[in-house]
Amino acid sequence: MNMSNLQPSEINTNSIYDCVIVPLRKIHNRAGNLTVVEGLKNLPFEVRRTYYLYDIPGGESRGGHAHKELYQLIIAAGGSFDVLLDDGENKKVVTLNRPYFGLLVVPGIWRELLEFSSGAICLVLASHKYEESDYIREYAQFMEFKGTAR
Ligand code: TYD
Repeated sequence: MNMSNLQPSEINTNSIYDCVIVPLRKIHNRAGNLTVVEGLKNLPFEVRRTYYLYDIPGGESRGGHAHKELYQLIIAAGGSFDVLLDDGENKKVVTLNRPYFGLLVVPGIWRELLEFSSGAICLVLASHKYEESDYIREYAQFMEFKGTAR
């Protein structure tokens, strides 16, 4: 696809401010805690896929891409890590370190996951099945998608 031929309707205007923390219910029990996430109830999407990152070596980063259509809820199911969000104009870093807070990442946001603690588990609930064609892995192509390329 020639990205410079994008129509205005193909440009994504979502911003980092659309990426919000979603508080999740913690069902407390003396034998431990339990948190439930229900698609469409806690999230603006139905969950069609779940995956998790683990055994992440110290100093490594993940992500480094954007999605065209995919919504995700990112949860630190264990340990902690930072999520760097970038909409082409603004950036923010969100630290996730509680299993009962998720970070909603809307389509059209460049993200990097970094500063993983030892033993961290990054749980991701996603709105669609895996499709490589939904990924934008080149930052210049991302800027085209956001309509901010010069
Ligand atoms: P990728 O999304 O690039 O990982 P990250 O953003 O965490 O660094 O995926 C890494 C590899 O795993 C890539 O080859 C695609 C594959 N993969 C699947 O097959 N299915 C999936 O649902 C995901 C998320 C990745």
